[in-house]
Amino acid sequence: MLATSGVALWRNLDNVHGFYEYISTEVMETFHVSSGIGYRDLEVILPMLSDVSSILEVGAGSGRVLRFLQKYFPDKKVVAIEQVPVYYDFLVDHYGDYANIIHGDIMRYKPCCQFECILQMWAGICDFNINEQQALLNKFARLLKEGGFVAVESLLRSTESNHSQVIVTGASEHQIKYGEGLINCYVADTKLMIAMAKDAGFSTITPLYYYPQGKKRIVYIMRK
Ligand SMILES: C[S@@+](CC[C@H](N)C(=O)[O-])C[C@H]1O[C@@H](n2cnc3c(N)ncnc32)[C@H](O)[C@@H]1O
Repeated sequence: MLATSGVALWRNLDNVHGFYEYISTEVMETFHVSSGIGYRDLEVILPMLSDVSSILEVGAGSGRVLRFLQKYFPDKKVVAIEQVPVYYDFLVDHYGDYANIIHGDIMRYKPCCQFECILQMWAGICDFNINEQQALLNKFARLLKEGGFVAVESLLRSTESNHSQVIVTGASEHQIKYGEGLINCYVADTKLMIAMAKDAGFSTITPLYYYPQGKKRIVYIMRK
């Protein structure tokens, strides 16, 4: 799909260096609590996770998803990739016995085998510009085993952020500032996300909604 032009002035890598590298794992933990997300996005997909034996988590951050997976599925094969060195070190220290932690950019990741499940939760996809989002979904389709599923969590365009300061810069882009950190986000609307997923080769995209602090959010379940 040819993505919309004119909105992709920033890149995912700018966010990694301009935001996440200023945010400690402790602060990241306070964000998911204060936004009301907690583990609710993961609870939405919990029943589906029982059926898969291998999971790739994309952008593992402070280990929220790994903590949840370890609690419910101590014996599954889990690989987690994270780009920020400080997070990577933290993840190895805390979850290295449970999961295979990889340091690097998901777009450059070349694993030996495919996964039955790929998770990119808590709006991780919004850290990528619109063109990068299409490339990311293409990559997920390549990394996914036949019969498996991808779960991508996102806020919806109309949802207000609970972070310290939100500056809306366009219909579906916003910036979040925290201290010296600044992150650009692109929130695709549901129609566009489904079109991009289809273009990537997914045949079924099922939206699951949930309402942390009364604000509607979405988990897209994508199957080939
Ligand atoms: C919103 S946080 C989500 C953290 C975690 N997945 C969760 O749900 O709690 C997004 C994470 O993705 C990481 N990330 C962003 N771009 C990445 C990339 N290209 N490759 C790997 N990790 C990336 C960020 O450093 C950050 O830790």
